[in-house]
Amino acid sequence: MPNTLDRVPATLLLGAGPSGVAPSTYHALAKNTVGHMDPFFIGLMDELKQGLRTLFGTANELTVPLSGTGSAGMEAAFVNLVEPGDKVLVLQNGVFGKRMVEVAGRLGAEVTELGFEWGTPVDVAAVADQLRQGPYKIVAIVFAETSTGVRNPVAEVGELLRGTGALYLVDAVTAIGGIPVEVDRWGIDVCYAGSQKCLSCPPGASPITFSERAVAAIKARATKVPNWYLDMTLLTAYWGGGTRVYHHTPPINMMYGLYQAVYNILQEGVENVFARHLRAHQRLAAGLAELGWEFLVDEPYRLPELNTVKVPEGVDEARLRARLLAEHQIEINGGLGALAGKIVRIGLMGYNATEANADRLIGAMKAVLAG
Ligand SMILES: Cc1ncc(COP(=O)(O)O)c(C=O)c1O
Repeated sequence: MPNTLDRVPATLLLGAGPSGVAPSTYHALAKNTVGHMDPFFIGLMDELKQGLRTLFGTANELTVPLSGTGSAGMEAAFVNLVEPGDKVLVLQNGVFGKRMVEVAGRLGAEVTELGFEWGTPVDVAAVADQLRQGPYKIVAIVFAETSTGVRNPVAEVGELLRGTGALYLVDAVTAIGGIPVEVDRWGIDVCYAGSQKCLSCPPGASPITFSERAVAAIKARATKVPNWYLDMTLLTAYWGGGTRVYHHTPPINMMYGLYQAVYNILQEGVENVFARHLRAHQRLAAGLAELGWEFLVDEPYRLPELNTVKVPEGVDEARLRARLLAEHQIEINGGLGALAGKIVRIGLMGYNATEANADRLIGAMKAVLAG
Protein backbone atom coordinates (compact mmCIF):
# COMPACT_ATOMS: atom_id res chain seq x y z
CA MET A 1 0.00 0.00 0.00
CA PRO A 2 1.48 3.41 -0.90
CA ASN A 3 2.12 5.65 2.09
CA THR A 4 0.27 8.92 1.61
CA LEU A 5 2.71 10.61 3.98
CA ASP A 6 5.32 10.27 1.25
CA ARG A 7 3.33 12.92 -0.59
CA VAL A 8 2.90 15.60 2.13
CA PRO A 9 3.21 18.82 0.12
CA ALA A 10 5.97 21.31 0.92
CA THR A 11 3.45 24.15 1.24
CA LEU A 12 4.72 27.54 2.36
CA LEU A 13 2.22 28.50 5.06
CA LEU A 14 1.49 32.21 4.78
CA GLY A 15 -2.05 32.12 6.13
CA ALA A 16 -3.61 32.78 9.49
CA GLY A 17 -2.07 29.69 11.06
CA PRO A 18 -0.73 27.10 11.23
CA SER A 19 2.56 28.69 10.32
CA GLY A 20 5.82 27.14 9.15
CA VAL A 21 7.79 24.99 11.59
CA ALA A 22 11.58 25.27 12.00
CA PRO A 23 13.58 22.11 11.19
CA SER A 24 14.88 22.06 14.78
CA THR A 25 11.28 21.85 16.03
CA TYR A 26 10.45 19.00 13.63
CA HIS A 27 13.52 17.18 14.99
CA ALA A 28 12.40 17.81 18.56
CA LEU A 29 8.97 16.29 17.80
CA ALA A 30 10.66 13.11 16.56
CA LYS A 31 12.74 12.47 19.68
CA ASN A 32 12.30 9.45 21.92
CA THR A 33 9.05 9.54 23.88
CA VAL A 34 9.64 9.31 27.65
CA GLY A 35 7.08 8.80 30.40
CA HIS A 36 5.11 11.75 31.71
CA MET A 37 6.37 11.10 35.26
CA ASP A 38 10.00 10.66 34.16
CA PRO A 39 12.20 13.10 36.13
CA PHE A 40 13.73 14.14 32.79
CA PHE A 41 10.32 15.21 31.48
CA ILE A 42 9.43 16.97 34.72
CA GLY A 43 12.65 18.98 34.48
CA LEU A 44 11.84 19.84 30.85
CA MET A 45 8.33 20.97 31.85
CA ASP A 46 9.78 23.29 34.49
CA GLU A 47 12.09 24.88 31.93
CA LEU A 48 9.23 25.17 29.44
CA LYS A 49 7.04 26.93 32.02
CA GLN A 50 9.86 29.40 32.65
CA GLY A 51 10.26 30.06 28.93
CA LEU A 52 6.53 30.67 28.61
CA ARG A 53 6.66 33.14 31.50
CA THR A 54 9.24 35.13 29.55
CA LEU A 55 7.07 35.18 26.42
CA PHE A 56 3.96 36.16 28.41
CA GLY A 57 5.89 38.83 30.33
CA THR A 58 4.85 37.41 33.66
CA ALA A 59 6.10 35.99 36.93
CA ASN A 60 2.85 34.05 37.39
CA GLU A 61 3.50 30.70 39.06
CA LEU A 62 0.51 29.12 37.27
CA THR A 63 1.86 29.27 33.71
CA VAL A 64 1.55 25.99 31.80
CA PRO A 65 1.00 24.58 28.33
CA LEU A 66 -2.42 22.95 28.08
CA SER A 67 -2.84 19.78 26.02
CA GLY A 68 -5.06 21.14 23.28
CA THR A 69 -5.22 23.90 20.69
CA GLY A 70 -5.86 27.59 21.32
CA SER A 71 -9.56 26.87 21.81
CA ALA A 72 -8.65 24.77 24.84
CA GLY A 73 -6.97 27.88 26.22
CA MET A 74 -10.11 29.94 25.65
CA GLU A 75 -12.28 27.25 27.20
CA ALA A 76 -9.94 26.87 30.20
CA ALA A 77 -9.83 30.62 30.81
CA PHE A 78 -13.61 30.92 31.01
CA VAL A 79 -14.50 27.56 32.52
CA ASN A 80 -12.22 28.08 35.51
CA LEU A 81 -13.42 31.59 36.28
CA VAL A 82 -17.08 31.73 35.33
CA GLU A 83 -19.87 30.56 37.61
CA PRO A 84 -23.55 30.75 36.59
CA GLY A 85 -24.86 34.29 36.82
CA ASP A 86 -21.43 35.95 36.75
CA LYS A 87 -21.30 39.19 34.81
CA VAL A 88 -18.91 39.02 31.88
CA LEU A 89 -18.14 41.86 29.47
CA VAL A 90 -16.77 40.76 26.10
CA LEU A 91 -15.21 43.40 23.87
CA GLN A 92 -15.96 41.98 20.45
CA ASN A 93 -14.63 42.97 17.03
CA GLY A 94 -14.25 39.69 15.22
CA VAL A 95 -14.87 35.96 15.03
CA PHE A 96 -12.84 35.11 18.12
CA GLY A 97 -14.53 37.75 20.26
CA LYS A 98 -17.85 36.26 19.12
CA ARG A 99 -16.58 32.86 20.19
CA MET A 100 -15.80 34.22 23.67
CA VAL A 101 -19.43 35.35 23.94
CA GLU A 102 -20.53 31.83 23.03
CA VAL A 103 -18.16 30.10 25.47
CA ALA A 104 -19.03 32.38 28.41
CA GLY A 105 -22.76 32.09 27.61
CA ARG A 106 -22.64 28.29 27.65
CA LEU A 107 -21.28 28.48 31.20
CA GLY A 108 -24.32 30.42 32.34
CA ALA A 109 -22.59 33.80 32.54
CA GLU A 110 -24.63 36.96 32.14
CA VAL A 111 -22.74 38.18 29.07
CA THR A 112 -22.66 41.76 27.84
CA GLU A 113 -21.26 41.98 24.33
CA LEU A 114 -19.78 45.35 23.43
CA GLY A 115 -19.33 45.16 19.67
CA PHE A 116 -17.14 47.23 17.34
CA GLU A 117 -17.01 47.30 13.57
CA TRP A 118 -14.85 44.45 12.24
CA GLY A 119 -11.55 45.83 10.98
CA THR A 120 -11.54 48.61 13.59
CA PRO A 121 -10.05 48.35 17.10
CA VAL A 122 -11.95 48.23 20.37
CA ASP A 123 -12.69 51.85 21.31
CA VAL A 124 -11.25 52.56 24.76
CA ALA A 125 -13.65 55.46 25.47
CA ALA A 126 -16.64 53.21 24.76
CA VAL A 127 -15.20 50.61 27.13
CA ALA A 128 -14.82 53.28 29.84
CA ASP A 129 -18.52 54.21 29.36
CA GLN A 130 -19.55 50.57 29.54
CA LEU A 131 -17.55 49.99 32.72
CA ARG A 132 -19.68 52.64 34.42
CA GLN A 133 -22.60 50.19 33.95
CA GLY A 134 -20.57 47.51 35.82
CA PRO A 135 -19.28 45.95 37.97
CA TYR A 136 -18.18 42.97 35.89
CA LYS A 137 -16.45 39.89 37.23
CA ILE A 138 -14.56 39.39 33.95
CA VAL A 139 -13.68 41.66 31.04
CA ALA A 140 -12.45 39.77 27.97
CA ILE A 141 -10.72 40.87 24.78
CA VAL A 142 -8.82 39.33 21.86
CA PHE A 143 -5.41 41.00 21.52
CA ALA A 144 -4.65 39.98 17.93
CA GLU A 145 -8.03 39.38 16.23
CA THR A 146 -7.09 36.80 13.61
CA SER A 147 -10.30 37.26 11.64
CA THR A 148 -9.68 40.95 10.97
CA GLY A 149 -5.95 41.61 11.51
CA VAL A 150 -6.64 44.17 14.24
CA ARG A 151 -4.31 44.77 17.19
CA ASN A 152 -6.60 45.72 20.06
CA PRO A 153 -5.57 48.25 22.74
CA VAL A 154 -4.98 45.67 25.46
CA ALA A 155 -2.65 47.84 27.59
CA GLU A 156 -5.10 50.78 27.56
CA VAL A 157 -8.08 48.61 28.53
CA GLY A 158 -5.93 47.09 31.29
CA GLU A 159 -5.31 50.60 32.58
CA LEU A 160 -9.08 51.26 32.74
CA LEU A 161 -9.63 48.05 34.69
CA ARG A 162 -7.08 48.76 37.39
CA GLY A 163 -8.77 48.91 40.76
CA THR A 164 -12.21 47.94 39.41
CA GLY A 165 -11.94 44.39 40.74
CA ALA A 166 -12.70 42.89 37.34
CA LEU A 167 -10.56 40.00 36.15
CA TYR A 168 -8.92 40.80 32.81
CA LEU A 169 -9.00 37.92 30.31
CA VAL A 170 -6.91 38.25 27.14
CA ASP A 171 -6.62 36.00 24.07
CA ALA A 172 -3.02 36.15 22.84
CA VAL A 173 -3.23 33.22 20.40
CA THR A 174 -2.00 35.18 17.38
CA ALA A 175 -0.01 37.71 19.42
CA ILE A 176 2.50 35.64 21.37
CA GLY A 177 5.90 35.52 19.73
CA GLY A 178 4.91 38.09 17.08
CA ILE A 179 4.30 41.26 19.09
CA PRO A 180 5.07 42.02 22.77
CA VAL A 181 2.68 40.53 25.33
CA GLU A 182 3.11 42.02 28.83
CA VAL A 183 0.78 40.17 31.17
CA ASP A 184 2.08 41.68 34.42
CA ARG A 185 2.63 45.24 33.17
CA TRP A 186 -0.84 45.41 31.58
CA GLY A 187 -2.65 43.95 34.58
CA ILE A 188 -3.85 40.82 32.75
CA ASP A 189 -5.27 38.04 34.95
CA VAL A 190 -5.69 35.23 32.45
CA CYS A 191 -3.94 35.01 29.11
CA TYR A 192 -3.79 32.09 26.73
CA ALA A 193 -2.01 31.42 23.45
CA GLY A 194 -1.65 28.80 20.75
CA SER A 195 1.35 26.88 19.49
CA GLN A 196 0.76 27.16 15.74
CA LYS A 197 0.96 30.89 15.05
CA CYS A 198 4.06 32.97 15.85
CA LEU A 199 5.52 30.24 18.09
CA SER A 200 5.94 28.18 14.91
CA CYS A 201 5.09 24.84 16.44
CA PRO A 202 2.40 22.56 14.97
CA PRO A 203 -1.09 22.99 16.48
CA GLY A 204 -1.72 21.05 19.70
CA ALA A 205 -0.60 23.04 22.74
CA SER A 206 -2.05 26.11 24.38
CA PRO A 207 0.14 28.03 26.82
CA ILE A 208 -1.91 29.72 29.54
CA THR A 209 -1.11 31.88 32.56
CA PHE A 210 -3.20 32.87 35.61
CA SER A 211 -2.42 35.75 37.99
CA GLU A 212 -2.60 35.31 41.77
CA ARG A 213 -5.95 37.13 41.71
CA ALA A 214 -7.25 34.67 39.13
CA VAL A 215 -5.99 31.71 41.16
CA ALA A 216 -7.69 33.17 44.25
CA ALA A 217 -10.93 33.54 42.25
CA ILE A 218 -10.74 29.89 41.21
CA LYS A 219 -10.17 28.84 44.82
CA ALA A 220 -13.11 30.97 45.96
CA ARG A 221 -15.59 29.28 43.59
CA ALA A 222 -18.83 28.16 45.17
CA THR A 223 -19.21 25.45 42.51
CA LYS A 224 -16.81 22.92 41.01
CA VAL A 225 -15.17 23.80 37.68
CA PRO A 226 -17.71 22.19 35.32
CA ASN A 227 -15.07 20.63 33.04
CA TRP A 228 -12.76 17.94 34.36
CA TYR A 229 -10.07 18.01 31.65
CA LEU A 230 -9.33 21.72 31.92
CA ASP A 231 -9.87 22.16 35.67
CA MET A 232 -6.80 24.14 36.76
CA THR A 233 -7.14 22.98 40.36
CA LEU A 234 -6.53 19.41 39.14
CA LEU A 235 -3.98 20.35 36.48
CA THR A 236 -1.90 22.26 39.02
CA ALA A 237 -1.29 19.01 40.89
CA TYR A 238 0.43 17.64 37.79
CA TRP A 239 2.18 20.73 36.46
CA GLY A 240 3.19 22.38 39.73
CA GLY A 241 4.52 21.65 43.18
CA GLY A 242 7.00 19.06 44.44
CA THR A 243 4.93 15.91 44.04
CA ARG A 244 3.36 15.48 40.62
CA VAL A 245 0.01 13.77 40.56
CA TYR A 246 -1.20 12.07 37.38
CA HIS A 247 -4.14 13.88 35.76
CA HIS A 248 -3.93 13.04 32.05
CA THR A 249 -1.05 11.92 29.84
CA PRO A 250 0.23 15.07 28.18
CA PRO A 251 1.30 14.85 24.52
CA ILE A 252 4.97 14.39 25.41
CA ASN A 253 6.42 14.97 21.95
CA MET A 254 4.20 18.00 21.42
CA MET A 255 5.79 19.41 24.56
CA TYR A 256 9.26 18.70 23.09
CA GLY A 257 8.19 20.65 20.02
CA LEU A 258 6.87 23.55 22.07
CA TYR A 259 10.03 23.54 24.19
CA GLN A 260 12.17 23.80 21.05
CA ALA A 261 9.96 26.50 19.53
CA VAL A 262 10.19 28.61 22.69
CA TYR A 263 13.93 27.89 22.93
CA ASN A 264 14.39 29.11 19.35
CA ILE A 265 12.67 32.43 20.11
CA LEU A 266 14.68 32.98 23.27
CA GLN A 267 17.93 32.12 21.46
CA GLU A 268 17.17 34.61 18.69
CA GLY A 269 16.10 37.17 21.28
CA VAL A 270 12.48 38.25 21.64
CA GLU A 271 13.17 41.81 20.49
CA ASN A 272 14.96 40.51 17.39
CA VAL A 273 12.02 38.23 16.67
CA PHE A 274 9.54 41.14 16.88
CA ALA A 275 11.79 43.26 14.65
CA ARG A 276 11.95 40.44 12.08
CA HIS A 277 8.14 40.26 12.00
CA LEU A 278 8.00 44.00 11.43
CA ARG A 279 10.55 43.92 8.59
CA ALA A 280 8.66 41.10 6.85
CA HIS A 281 5.39 43.02 7.23
CA GLN A 282 6.90 46.20 5.80
CA ARG A 283 8.28 44.32 2.82
CA LEU A 284 4.87 42.78 2.18
CA ALA A 285 3.14 46.14 2.58
CA ALA A 286 5.47 47.67 -0.04
CA GLY A 287 4.73 44.82 -2.45
CA LEU A 288 0.98 45.09 -1.91
CA ALA A 289 1.14 48.85 -2.47
CA GLU A 290 2.88 48.19 -5.81
CA LEU A 291 -0.02 45.88 -6.75
CA GLY A 292 -2.49 48.57 -5.66
CA TRP A 293 -4.00 46.41 -2.88
CA GLU A 294 -5.15 48.18 0.31
CA PHE A 295 -5.11 47.08 3.93
CA LEU A 296 -8.42 46.61 5.77
CA VAL A 297 -7.02 48.02 9.02
CA ASP A 298 -5.67 51.52 9.69
CA GLU A 299 -1.90 51.50 10.14
CA PRO A 300 -1.60 51.98 13.92
CA TYR A 301 -3.78 48.93 14.57
CA ARG A 302 -2.26 46.55 12.03
CA LEU A 303 -0.66 43.31 13.13
CA PRO A 304 2.68 42.67 11.46
CA GLU A 305 2.09 38.92 11.70
CA LEU A 306 -1.39 38.94 10.15
CA ASN A 307 -2.12 41.19 7.20
CA THR A 308 -5.70 41.63 6.06
CA VAL A 309 -6.00 43.04 2.59
CA LYS A 310 -9.07 44.15 0.65
CA VAL A 311 -9.72 42.20 -2.54
CA PRO A 312 -9.87 44.64 -5.45
CA GLU A 313 -12.92 44.76 -7.71
CA GLY A 314 -12.73 42.09 -10.41
CA VAL A 315 -10.39 39.72 -8.53
CA ASP A 316 -11.76 36.30 -7.63
CA GLU A 317 -10.02 35.75 -4.31
CA ALA A 318 -10.95 32.07 -3.99
CA ARG A 319 -9.41 31.41 -7.42
CA LEU A 320 -6.34 33.44 -6.53
CA ARG A 321 -5.82 31.41 -3.36
CA ALA A 322 -6.41 28.12 -5.18
CA ARG A 323 -3.86 29.01 -7.86
CA LEU A 324 -1.29 30.23 -5.33
CA LEU A 325 -1.55 26.83 -3.67
CA ALA A 326 -1.63 24.70 -6.81
CA GLU A 327 0.96 26.58 -8.87
CA HIS A 328 3.20 28.16 -6.24
CA GLN A 329 2.71 25.95 -3.15
CA ILE A 330 1.77 28.97 -1.05
CA GLU A 331 -1.22 29.04 1.31
CA ILE A 332 -2.95 32.27 2.22
CA ASN A 333 -6.47 32.45 3.66
CA GLY A 334 -9.75 34.13 2.84
CA GLY A 335 -11.89 36.20 5.19
CA LEU A 336 -14.08 34.74 7.92
CA GLY A 337 -17.71 35.50 8.72
CA ALA A 338 -18.83 38.87 7.41
CA LEU A 339 -15.45 39.40 5.72
CA ALA A 340 -15.59 36.20 3.63
CA GLY A 341 -14.91 37.00 -0.03
CA LYS A 342 -13.96 40.60 0.82
CA ILE A 343 -10.43 40.18 2.18
CA VAL A 344 -7.50 37.81 2.11
CA ARG A 345 -5.46 37.10 5.21
CA ILE A 346 -1.70 36.86 4.82
CA GLY A 347 0.31 35.59 7.75
CA LEU A 348 4.00 36.24 8.22
CA MET A 349 4.33 34.33 11.43
CA GLY A 350 7.25 32.95 13.39
CA TYR A 351 9.73 30.99 11.29
CA ASN A 352 8.04 32.21 8.10
CA ALA A 353 8.20 35.90 8.99
CA THR A 354 10.93 36.83 6.54
CA GLU A 355 11.37 39.39 3.80
CA ALA A 356 12.23 36.54 1.40
CA ASN A 357 8.81 34.96 2.01
CA ALA A 358 7.08 38.32 1.51
CA ASP A 359 8.92 38.64 -1.82
CA ARG A 360 8.04 35.09 -2.83
CA LEU A 361 4.35 35.72 -2.19
CA ILE A 362 4.27 39.04 -4.02
CA GLY A 363 6.07 37.43 -6.98
CA ALA A 364 3.54 34.58 -7.04
CA MET A 365 0.59 36.99 -6.76
CA LYS A 366 1.94 39.00 -9.69
CA ALA A 367 2.28 35.83 -11.78
CA VAL A 368 -1.26 34.66 -10.97
CA LEU A 369 -2.86 38.07 -11.45
CA ALA A 370 -1.11 38.47 -14.82
CA GLY A 371 -2.93 35.53 -16.30
C1 LIG B 1 -7.43 34.76 18.24
C2 LIG B 1 -7.69 33.30 18.26
N1 LIG B 1 -8.24 32.74 19.34
C3 LIG B 1 -8.50 31.42 19.39
C4 LIG B 1 -8.21 30.59 18.33
C5 LIG B 1 -8.54 29.14 18.41
O1 LIG B 1 -7.36 28.40 18.33
P1 LIG B 1 -7.33 26.93 17.72
O2 LIG B 1 -7.83 26.98 16.33
O3 LIG B 1 -5.87 26.58 17.83
O4 LIG B 1 -8.16 26.06 18.60
C6 LIG B 1 -7.65 31.13 17.19
C7 LIG B 1 -7.34 30.28 16.01
O5 LIG B 1 -7.07 30.74 14.93
C8 LIG B 1 -7.38 32.51 17.15
O6 LIG B 1 -6.82 33.07 16.06
